[in-house]
Order: sequence, then C-alpha cells, then structure tokens
Amino acid sequence: MDKKVDLKVDRKAPAPTPHWAYLDGRVVPYRQASFGLLTHALNYGTGLFAGLRGYWNADERQLFVFRPEDHFRRFCESARLLRMELSVTPADLTSGLLELLRAEGYRENCYIRPLAFYGDESIGVRLHGLTPVVGMAAVPFGSYLGKEDGVHVAISSWTRVSDNVIPARGKFAGSYVNSALARTDAVLAGFDEALLLNDHGHVCEGSVENVFMLRNGSVVTPPVTDDVLEGFTRATVIHLLREDMGRTVVERSIDRTELYLADEVFLTGTGAEITPVTRADHRAIGEGRIGPVAAELRARYMDTVGGRVSKYRGWCRPVYAATGERAAVTAGALAENGTGVLRHGDPAEELPARRAP
Ligand SMILES: Cc1ncc(COP(=O)(O)O)c(C=O)c1O
Repeated sequence: MDKKVDLKVDRKAPAPTPHWAYLDGRVVPYRQASFGLLTHALNYGTGLFAGLRGYWNADERQLFVFRPEDHFRRFCESARLLRMELSVTPADLTSGLLELLRAEGYRENCYIRPLAFYGDESIGVRLHGLTPVVGMAAVPFGSYLGKEDGVHVAISSWTRVSDNVIPARGKFAGSYVNSALARTDAVLAGFDEALLLNDHGHVCEGSVENVFMLRNGSVVTPPVTDDVLEGFTRATVIHLLREDMGRTVVERSIDRTELYLADEVFLTGTGAEITPVTRADHRAIGEGRIGPVAAELRARYMDTVGGRVSKYRGWCRPVYAATGERAAVTAGALAENGTGVLRHGDPAEELPARRAP
C-alpha cells in the first residue's frame, strides 16, 4: 500500500524559520521565544491558536492581512473558553502583528501563527492558577493542500470532537490531535484530505477546513451548532455567495450520502482557501471536475483577499506604509532602546530588505 502513497507533501522541506517573534507585547529574535520541556501547554495541550494569511499584491507592492481583527476576536474567545485572562485586545494583537510583519519585511504570501498558551513549567492538569503567554510568528507560505485541480477526500473513521468534549468553536492546541489523526490516516490511505463526521453522523468539516456542497441549486454548509469551527473563510464565502453570486446558502446538517450525490463540494479555510473536492471515498463529485460555482468563488475569493476588490478593501489590512516599497523595520528603535527587542510605539526606520536579528 505504501508504494502508492505520495507522501511528498508531508516530507517537503520545512518552512523557513522566522527571524522574529512577537512575545507578550514585544518583537524579539525568534530564537528568544523558547520554552522548557515542562511547559504546561506542551504537556497538556492547554493552548489555543489562530492562522492568518498575508497576501502580497505585486501591483501595489503591498502586503495585505485578511480580517486580522476578526481572527483575533475568535482568538480572544478561545482564550475565554480556556479561562485565560489575556491583557491584550484584538486591536493590540493586530498592531503587534503588523509590527512583526514589518520586521520580517515579507514581500510574498505568508502565513501567521498567533498562539496563547499556559507557559508555567508545572505538573498538574488544570486551567486555573496558570499564566498565559501570547506569541506570534510568520513564515512565507504558498498553497496548503497543493492541489489546484481539486482534492479526493476520505470520510474519516475518526469522529470530530464535540462541544461537550473539547469545544469545537475554540481553536485549542490539544484538539488538533483529532485533526492530525484523521488527516494522516487519510493521506496514508492515498487521499488528499479527511472529512470528519460529528457525533450524530453528520458531515462536519475537514481537518482544518469547513465544508460546503451544492445540491439542487442551493449551497449548503453545516450550521455552527454541528461542532464546526466558526471559520472566517466560511463567513466570507457565505457573504460572497449571497451578495455577489446571488446564491442561496442554507446552513443545515448534511448527511454523508448527500455529499456523495452533490453537484459540487468545496472546502474553505485560511490555509486551504477555496479547495474544490472532486472525489469523496472514490466517488466522483458531480462530473469529477472542478464545478463552476467553486471555480467562480475561488477567483472572487483570491481577488478579495489580495485587496483587488474595492468594496472589500476594509477586510484587508495593509502592512506597509502607502508606498509599500520598503519594509518599515524598527532597526533604529533597536539601536536606540539598546534592549535587543522592539517595543510597541518605537519609532520605525526603513530598511531595504528583510532584516535578520
Ligand atoms: C477545524 C477547522 N475548521 C475550519 C477551519 C477554517 O477556519 P478559518 O476559515 O477561520 O481559517 C479551520 C482553520 O484552521 C480549522 O482548523
């Protein structure tokens, strides 16, 4: 069986190491953001994270981050579910993120990973009496699933964690063992991605994506009460389908066999963007090719996130000053404050290229 399985995706060279990290309000050299073996979150999964993308718009020479404050609002909600008291707001986190990206000076698409976790080095499973750490790092990033022609999904034998096990609407580090089990089993069996069912046997979501199907003319996606993550791509896609493509979108539970009979299926997520599903469990979806709705939606979505749709520019946060020609890196501040770290509000100085710490 292994001979047939293409594991290249999982064995590809690791993403480049970032130069900088955001750590509790400061931008520090990436290697300085290191933690010990007994770190609570490392042992018990008591952390949460977000995933955002930055899109390089070559015409404007600008890097746009898509819906950062929305992502950070969900991040803060996940923190509340873990009884974490964060001293930062979504607005603080957004400005910390922009500062981090300016320090990196990326002029290409990138992925941003914010996380908050209990950083205490102590034994004992609990959520109380612990101290959170907030960090962020960003790396250059391309396509997540790496399949432009659509993916073949497997209905996983793993069930999606339900709200009364680990809340699915929180993005908790520990819950991703569930996604990892499903994804790896699917890839090892020759599929591209897993689709998980929930406790009730309804189609829930991919390992890191929400799912939509087109059936009898309507676009259908599971409701947020079906143990799915309340994805921003999901929300963006529902908006684009309704407002720009005139489609009816229904939020209701989906049976596994409805999926087999759908005209189109697609996955949505910050990482996966809009990924059409062309086969499920060795059955062709529709004609087994990317359908017209997914194709149009994908084009509209990529224009939207790239800052090319004026009415949606409000969702796209520019990283650089208007010219976008040079990264505003706070090297001058580094020299000035003499601490080796950058602080919010330090004066920015322009550098021509990414600056290594
Ligand atoms: C389990 C799960 N579902 C859905 C999504 C899609 O969410 P978003 O569109 O906010 O990236 C993700 C994203 O990481 C995820 O992990």
